[in-house]
Amino acid sequence: MMPDYRSPYETCPDVCGNLERPGVALDMPLWIEHSHLDTTVDQLRIEEALNEMEWRGRHILHVGVGNSRFAERFAPEAALVDGLTVCQSEVARAQSLGIPNYTVYFLNKYGREFGLTLKNRYDFVIDNNLASYACCKYHFYRMLDNYLWAMKPGGRILTDQRGMDFTVEEKRWILSYQDLEALEKKFPVRVSRVTGTVYAIASEVTR
Ligand SMILES: C[S@@+](CC[C@H](N)C(=O)[O-])C[C@H]1O[C@@H](n2cnc3c(N)ncnc32)[C@H](O)[C@@H]1O
Repeated sequence: MMPDYRSPYETCPDVCGNLERPGVALDMPLWIEHSHLDTTVDQLRIEEALNEMEWRGRHILHVGVGNSRFAERFAPEAALVDGLTVCQSEVARAQSLGIPNYTVYFLNKYGREFGLTLKNRYDFVIDNNLASYACCKYHFYRMLDNYLWAMKPGGRILTDQRGMDFTVEEKRWILSYQDLEALEKKFPVRVSRVTGTVYAIASEVTR
């Protein structure tokens, strides 16, 4: 990474001011409702990468549950899968499936309720749309802080370049691998490539 590299999103407002409902598209089913859509290519790539790791018996947080096929696949052999969504029909689908070890929360990943709601600690956080719904720098960083707070020491966030290329509103929220590496200067994290497109952000928080 170039020493003076500045990510495109650095030109975004520091704080959006919408502290009660941060993020974009919260009322737009077109962007947030995947309950009856196929799993995205990026999500499937992360699943394949995760499958090569030691995920059995571990705690997993899936951010943006979509059709809940992730939980159908991984919850039976994980210790637990917790899921987040801002879409009520995704909650309804998740609950209708009755998957053991799987709990879905209607919870905003950028919000302060995150730390008040989740009680588990995770070995893996799966989020294929890290900044796709971001509103401002504060809430993007708050999301990362939320994830680090919720992760066990050595826990990893897994994401994919295709999801990082997708943004609902602002193109400056498209992230590159270099943008993830730049986070190492702001947060106690170590970024690495898992495959050609799947990346890991490992927590270096010591408790
Ligand atoms: C494009 S869909 C992807 C679904 C699934 N991960 C996949 O790739 O097939 C985006 C998901 O992120 C969720 N989402 C959007 N904004 C969110 C936020 N602020 N907090 C938590 N989840 C959010 C949506 O409800 C939806 O489940």
